Amino acid sequence: MAGLFVTFEGVDRAGKTTQAGMLRDALGDRAVAVREPGGTPLGERIREVLKDSTIELSPVGETLLFAAARAELVQQVIRPALDAGKVVVSDRYLDSSLAYQGEGRGLGVDVVASINRFATGELEPDITFLLELDLTDAAERGGEADRFEDEGRSLQAQVRDAYDRLARENPERWRRIDAARPAAEVHAEVMEVVVGVAA
Ligand code: TYD
Repeated sequence: MAGLFVTFEGVDRAGKTTQAGMLRDALGDRAVAVREPGGTPLGERIREVLKDSTIELSPVGETLLFAAARAELVQQVIRPALDAGKVVVSDRYLDSSLAYQGEGRGLGVDVVASINRFATGELEPDITFLLELDLTDAAERGGEADRFEDEGRSLQAQVRDAYDRLARENPERWRRIDAARPAAEVHAEVMEVVVGVAA
């Protein structure tokens, strides 16, 4: 049986981590859960660097670090799991780079897409959930600030608009979900889609 590759995207605090965890728990042994950046020994080290706002990093360097972590994750974890027929559930994937680095950092979505095609060997998700949440609601959810959250609302607004465009350009792959609702309701909708596609 062929595997299924499911990713969660959205602005910070939209609930991706919660939803990815709930989906993994619901699928049990069929699921392999990963997070980005991270998921491999190198990826976790890169994650620490990327999250540390005291380390100076250019947009280009940032893009390449995300891509390097992603390359390892695809080769070491995602492809082998898909080959074994698993459902891979990823908390963020390449669309995060298109939205944050391509749009948010202003490098251009096309160039970041091309770097990421190289990094991933063109592996695309089968389903991408866009967890949609108003930026005011997202800010109210609170949480720890990192390099990206420090940048404030304008970056988040650019990221939100970029996701919106990506979802419109590829409606086959993207599923929009209203993330302002209780987690259990969001999860029920996610499950309905995954079960429908996996059947
Ligand atoms: P993450 O740990 O998912 O943060 P959160 O739990 O707050 O969503 O990701 C850390 C930050 O990295 C997040 O602000 C988004 C950013 N990011 C990018 O800018 N590009 C990328 O390719 C990825 C995967 C994440």
